[in-house]
Amino acid sequence: MRQPALTSTASFQALESHAVDAKTWQLRQLFAADAQRFPKLTVDAAGLFLDYSKNRLDATTIGLLLELARERGVERQRDAMLSGEKINLTEHRAVLHTALRMPRGKALVVDGQDVNADVHAVLDQVKDFTDRVRNGAWLGYNGKPITDIVNIGIGGSDLGPKMAVLALRSYAHPRLKMHFVSNVDGHDMDAALAQVKPETTLFIIASKTFTTAETMLNAGTARAWFLENGGASDNLAKHFVAVSTNTEAVKAFGIDPANMFPFWDWVGGRYSVWSAIGLSVALAVGFGYFSDFLAGAHAMDEHFRAAPLEQNMPVLLAMVGFWNRQFLDCGSLSIAPYHQDLNRFAAYLQQLDMESNGKRVTRNGAAVDTPTCPVVWGECGTNAQHAYFQLLHQGTDIVPIDFIAALRATHDLPGHHDALLANCFAQSEAFMTGKTADEVRADLAGQKLSAEQIEELVPHKTFPGNRPSNTILMDQLTPGALGALIALYEHKTFVQGVIWDVNSFDQWGVELGKVLAKNIQSELTGEVKPERHDSSTNGLIFMAKAAQHI
Ligand code: F6P
Repeated sequence: MRQPALTSTASFQALESHAVDAKTWQLRQLFAADAQRFPKLTVDAAGLFLDYSKNRLDATTIGLLLELARERGVERQRDAMLSGEKINLTEHRAVLHTALRMPRGKALVVDGQDVNADVHAVLDQVKDFTDRVRNGAWLGYNGKPITDIVNIGIGGSDLGPKMAVLALRSYAHPRLKMHFVSNVDGHDMDAALAQVKPETTLFIIASKTFTTAETMLNAGTARAWFLENGGASDNLAKHFVAVSTNTEAVKAFGIDPANMFPFWDWVGGRYSVWSAIGLSVALAVGFGYFSDFLAGAHAMDEHFRAAPLEQNMPVLLAMVGFWNRQFLDCGSLSIAPYHQDLNRFAAYLQQLDMESNGKRVTRNGAAVDTPTCPVVWGECGTNAQHAYFQLLHQGTDIVPIDFIAALRATHDLPGHHDALLANCFAQSEAFMTGKTADEVRADLAGQKLSAEQIEELVPHKTFPGNRPSNTILMDQLTPGALGALIALYEHKTFVQGVIWDVNSFDQWGVELGKVLAKNIQSELTGEVKPERHDSSTNGLIFMAKAAQHI
């Protein structure tokens, strides 16, 4: 259905008028004025807790934001996605990553395909294979069990598995060491190969299309290395498996289709960790924990599907993010997991959010009339505090932050977890309250400083505060909690895409660079004469050719 321009909608205009006033609000005052602010602006779902009370908004703002969500058809489009309608208009595809985590036996037929049966048939294949590798029944060519697994993939075929394997480190099999090679830069592959032996290594070639240039080059390099270092070609089947939607290309590469784990075109790359693309995760933690991971995501899906918008965590997270982006002019969003095992989570969210909603036209091809996706970035706390938090506290841009923490650690080292949580909560408090000039003066009064020295220091030590943040808590970083957390952000991304009326499921913006890289590569290797680029690009190509004596 054609959506009216966002700024022309009644609910957007109501928000615009409301924002004139709301922009002047101070978070300190909002908290002082309402003792119930925390219980009012927090929500529980699927084992997660979201505190969005430290944002510059109130219950009226939320009411208006939810009116906008309704006017834009969030509920209708959510139901369309969940039921398998082809909402990815430019690629004529359904968007069914939620089907990947549905329990067995839930009916879902799309285009004559029994989606649930197909998903569970592949999950059975994953279970059988991962069980055999983990229990040592799957042997390498000289009869030894597998010790190292190298996942070769990029984008969604790398970021999700790598992030999840790190996040679930505490649940991992002690014999299996996981490696991830994504970059076309040979240093990536070189570093991985230096750590493994052909006879005990399993390579997973993970690529939805099986045509991605980086992955195909890396896969070819891995196969050549295997054959040059003792592996014979009839042993390839014991050491190379593929995860893809492209059976023909997998066969052409030389992988036995019996060692191929399929998925489907209705799984977007950045939404694919739940599919067989998560094979490395299942190998690391075992099928039981992988099932818990899927179940955690499914619990969030059910919440997203059924909860009223007022208590719907992904919807609230999305609408608060929209408020900050649109009305507080926040062009970026910082992700601060206070959990070292989530140290690839921000990188994962970058693809999820920015490849989905980094768009400038609506689903009908008209220019959007508001800003869309903020720049997403971040690092784990407390490291981030000692790097860039200075700018977040006292810089000129306002950057909202999502703090993510587990109430209980998955280690038993004394003292650390309280210190970690204390820092997490202190940071969100500091961003919110800031420190006034008078508070700085009071602090400095006790020190042996002249009045003049104090006044010199006051502007430097004053914090404006009033900086928005969310805090997302879980009990422990379990497979289920991780599944729910990822699904929360997936649905948040979806809801924001609906508000902006962009197609969150295509990614045409990555194509231009791919085509140009192909042209330049043939110029660099000397097969083709340099094309007439601009003087900068020509200059760089000539420098590279000269350095390599081509
Ligand atoms: O180039 C972007 C992209 O298409 C991502 O969306 C995707 O996750 C990645 O490339 C890898 O694609 P594939 O799994 O087909 O190799």
